[in-house]
Amino acid sequence: MSTINASVALTRHDSIAVITIDSPPVNALSHGVREGLVQAVAQAGQDSTVRAILIACAGTTFIAGADITEFGKPPKDPRISAVIAAIEDCPKPIIAAMHGTVLGGGLELALGCHYRVAAPATRLGLPEVNLGIIPGAGGTQRLPRVVGVERAIELITTASQLSAKQALEAGLVDALIDGDLVQGALQFARRVVDENKALLRVRDRDEHLVTARGNPALFEKARAAVARKSRGLTAPLAAIDAIEAAVNLPFEQGLQRERELVTAQVSSDQSKALRYFFFAERESAKIPGIQTGDVAKVQQAAVIGAGTMGGGIAMSLANAGVAVTLIDLNPEALERGLGIIRKNYENTARRGGMTESDVSARMALIRPSTKLADVSSAEVIVEAVFENTELKKSVFTEIDRHARADAILGTNTSTLDIDEIASATARPESVIGLHFFSPANVMKLLEVVRTGRTSESVVARAMALGRQMRKVPVLVGTCDGFVGNRILRARSKQAEQIIMQGGFPEQVDRVLQDFGFPMGVFAMGDMAGLDIGWRIRKERGLKSIVADKLCEMGRLGQKAGAGYFRYDPANPEGARAPIVDPIVNELILQASRDQNIERRDMDDVLIRERLLYPMINEAAKILEEGVALRAGDIDVIWIYGYGWPRHRGGPMHYADSIGLAKIRDRLREFERDHGDAFKPAALLERLADEGGTFAGHRTGALQATAAATAVAA
Ligand code: CAA
Repeated sequence: MSTINASVALTRHDSIAVITIDSPPVNALSHGVREGLVQAVAQAGQDSTVRAILIACAGTTFIAGADITEFGKPPKDPRISAVIAAIEDCPKPIIAAMHGTVLGGGLELALGCHYRVAAPATRLGLPEVNLGIIPGAGGTQRLPRVVGVERAIELITTASQLSAKQALEAGLVDALIDGDLVQGALQFARRVVDENKALLRVRDRDEHLVTARGNPALFEKARAAVARKSRGLTAPLAAIDAIEAAVNLPFEQGLQRERELVTAQVSSDQSKALRYFFFAERESAKIPGIQTGDVAKVQQAAVIGAGTMGGGIAMSLANAGVAVTLIDLNPEALERGLGIIRKNYENTARRGGMTESDVSARMALIRPSTKLADVSSAEVIVEAVFENTELKKSVFTEIDRHARADAILGTNTSTLDIDEIASATARPESVIGLHFFSPANVMKLLEVVRTGRTSESVVARAMALGRQMRKVPVLVGTCDGFVGNRILRARSKQAEQIIMQGGFPEQVDRVLQDFGFPMGVFAMGDMAGLDIGWRIRKERGLKSIVADKLCEMGRLGQKAGAGYFRYDPANPEGARAPIVDPIVNELILQASRDQNIERRDMDDVLIRERLLYPMINEAAKILEEGVALRAGDIDVIWIYGYGWPRHRGGPMHYADSIGLAKIRDRLREFERDHGDAFKPAALLERLADEGGTFAGHRTGALQATAAATAVAA
């Protein structure tokens, strides 16, 4: 064994040299790994007793890509492409022995090897577009030479992964290795040597390219498809340009073109936002002072309430292999809820998302009950009954009587005071908010709401449960609306005012969609049903002139065929596609007249600023109150829960990228024109004065926790 450097070692097995990369956590191609690889390849290549070389990785995965932490810093030689060139030009066969997730630069390096073998569970892909870039080390040039042009376009532009079996079928992998990977790969290497197999260089292959050459229509079709699907993203289009270069240019010139394209992408705002978000998402899993790692998996849970939310939550748990007791005191509601769950699973099976036996297995995990006492064996209880404090308190008093001493008592409330609900139990330290988003079995976001009294171990276990359900759990403090809905309210309020002051629903929605949201505010309201907000407003004694009027007219949204927009089952754009309704626009004009509001033209920029800057201001207040731990957490919530376009990094990153002084100044102008509601938050004022950013601001601890600590002291 010879140690090349801290990350790379070279060992010998008879005439085969094995280069092992050991650079946790994911063997990314950091500078040290690149240096070590070049040295090891040179050393093994020059050794006359070596007949073939394996490249393998220690730990959980083969190389998972370039080291993203090095992006945006001055590049250090050797670059990844130089490492790959050294491998490809080596006079001895080099075989990649792959396991885990072979991604980005990792797959590009494997494509530079002469042969590739993989463990059966390996997954392979070029996910660079997720980071706003394109493969930059020959991936766009080599992958189409192996799997064909159309397949390469699909894989690279959608960042999709292949299983080892699919990779084998596509010719990307030469053999699958059952059992010990290195032993199996050594056997493969010996066969290559014994049979005197050729040194296969992907760069020399062009059988797939010739068919695509002189066929510009293929690329135009791909561009149109990408433009439709990845609204506003530039990286997938750049990837198509690079693949087209692979088809039409000699290899070296194609590589050069790829380099130019990747250089432009790396410095783009989209890539900066996407890279920021990659780390923000991972940081959101970490809670200062709390170990969120080694927590035992939940086996038994109970969900109370078999309505839409309760059913979706039960499905999320069953999907994670957790046995769930679904409790509803009303037998008919329970029956109905179970029926909907079954129908949802069967629909998934019909679409090919699961097998019939999966459906049976999931259903077998969900045990119906009409008795609250049946929570007794659950490690986690999630209450999802109607939003009413007294009802929830009575449920919690009852749960408290039957639940295990160590059970997590979760409430799925989105509007009520969790401290108040917890006060109905003798163990408020076990009570936590688990705010799922609808449909709960689909949406990734989970707001984990910690009160001032929730214990650290309950926080850690709730976060772990979120991950067990493959959700993105984000810890927040208590306040009206928590983080997500509180910011949403700021936007809804603006949207309502804008239509009274000069805009129309279609314009507001278009501005949001142009920004990258999948849907506008008004179409979203129609989809959710306008009666939900109507009921809450009536309870709270609030009014929304246009929305109330629409509800009074029976225009409750999509389900009624009309809301802010009209819906028509025969619409060629789709039954759910909104159609502008002149009746609504007339109603809005009338409402403005009734309120003596002088309408004025609003351009798209003004509407965008009016919608987004108050959201940022509200988020700044959330941060300054310590309801969120970090700006990144707010971004994760808005991207996973509310469709904020990922390539804009979330509201906080977007604000940082525009400049906080600019946002503060604009809010001051709105404050002057429209009143106090626009007054910039104190934190925004301070950071704007200091030239600071939200990303650089840390609250340290949630307010509720800080307050509890202060009380305890
Ligand atoms: N560079 C640097 N750090 C990375 C990394 C990378 N490429 N990939 C993962 N990490 C870090 C994460 O930040 C995380 O660090 P912390 O523990 O400090 O938070 C740690 O590795 C573990 O990552 P995950 O929590 O994501 O672990 P996981 O097991 O759930 O997932 C993974 C592992 C599938 C590899 C996932 O991390 C992932 O998808 N990584 C990104 C892969 C990628 O995009 N590669 C392409 C890079 S771009 C490229 O290669 C450009 C090119 O053309 C040369």
